[in-house]
Formats: sequence, structure tokens, C-alpha cells
Amino acid sequence: MSYVPKHVAFIMDGNGRWAKARNLPRSAGHKKGSQILREIVEYCAEIGIQYVTAYTFSTENWSRPKEEIDGIMSLLEDYLDDAIKKSKKRNIKVKVIGKKDGLSNSIINKIQELESKTKDNSGLCVIFAINYGGRDEIIRATNKILAQIQSGISYEITPEIFSDFLDTKGIPDPDFLIRTSGELRISNFLLWQLAYTEFYFTDKHWPDFSKTDLDLALLEYVQRKRRFGKA
Ligand code: FPP
Repeated sequence: MSYVPKHVAFIMDGNGRWAKARNLPRSAGHKKGSQILREIVEYCAEIGIQYVTAYTFSTENWSRPKEEIDGIMSLLEDYLDDAIKKSKKRNIKVKVIGKKDGLSNSIINKIQELESKTKDNSGLCVIFAINYGGRDEIIRATNKILAQIQSGISYEITPEIFSDFLDTKGIPDPDFLIRTSGELRISNFLLWQLAYTEFYFTDKHWPDFSKTDLDLALLEYVQRKRRFGKA
């Protein structure tokens, strides 16, 4: 097995706890978390990872206080602005998964601009899961198939065909999932795509996650034996 997985997915948990431990507002944890994401993305590009997916905002996160949601959305806008500015200089391709309803027009426009400006870049592909839930994605895919069947197109639905109706169409499934902050669950993230993914959990809060922590995780990945259900 290659030392470097092709696709690494991150659940960036623990921003709030990181901030609380420092008597800071939760927003400070998210701010530091977004800086860490920038650093980790750069490092992933450097070491030859081809796809990174970051769970940035879940369909469930809307139940947080409005002030916190506004803070995360404003960090997201800053991130998108910065990525748009650097889109020609960096060879990174950006894609966003999740549903657009509920997001502001300004964020939707920035997502479209960034996706279109980076679509021909050939380097690392960064996938942001924004307003994303695995169940919601599967239901949206099912409804798209239903609409096609109702319009007269007939299908024998296979996993490959089903995958093509998901937001992640064309993106290989993650090889490795890293979740920070000690929780041992997947929280509605990539439910379909994580079928054979190797999981890695660390107690570190996301704002403390470093390149060295990623190296340690990758060292563990290389020792895993992936069998994809075979003997
Ligand atoms: C989990 O921490 C993190 C999130 C809900 C959102 C992830 C957001 C970021 C990493 C920052 C924003 C990044 C961009 C690109 C906008 P938590 O708040 O659930 O932490 P807790 O479990 O300790 O409370």
C-alpha cells in the first residue's frame, strides 16, 4: 500500500472545546480551525495527496446559536475570497458538496466562482462539505433517480450508477478518515462513500492538529491492511 492515501477526509471536531479550555469564545476556535485547515491543505498538496474532503458545516449545524453560525459563514466567505484570489497561482481545484438551499447568495456565488476558476487545475482537489449531511445526499440522489424514472428513463440501479447521482460523482471514495477531538462516530458524514475507508481518531482538538499529527496518522494508515471485504 502506498504511504500516501489518494483521498483523505477530515472531521474537524473540537474547535469549541479548544476555545473553552482557553477561556475564549467559540468563534476563536473556529477561526483557528480555519487557519489549521489552510495549513493542512497546503501540506496535503506538498506530500502528494490527491483529494482532501473537509466537513465544514453539516445540515445539523443550523441548530447552533445564530451568532456562531454567522461566525462560521463569515470565516467561510474569507476562506473562499482568499482561495479565489489565489486560484491561478495555486494549482488546487475546489469542489463543494452539500445542498445550496439555506446558504446566502453571496456564498453560493463565491462557491460557483471558485469552482469555475479552479476546474482546470490539475493539483490537489479540495472538497468542502458545506450544508452537507450524508442522509440528505442519499435522499437527494434517490429523488433525482426517481424523477428520471418518472420521466421514462429506466435503470437497473447498481452501486456505480447510484454513485453518479451523489454530490461526489467522479471523486474516488476516501481511503482514510481522520476525526479529531476524541469522538468515535461519523456524524452523518459521507455515509455512502466511507464504506471501506480506514478510520483514525485522535484526542487532539482540530485547532491543535499539526502536520506532525497528520504524519503520525499516515504512519498508522500505511500499516493497515485493506481487504475491501475480501478474505
Ligand atoms: C467542530 O467543532 C467544527 C465545526 C462545527 C465546523 C468546522 C469549522 C471549521 C474548521 C472552521 C471553519 C472553516 C472554514 C473553512 C470556514 P465544534 O464546534 O463542534 O467543537 P466542539 O465539539 O468542541 O464544541
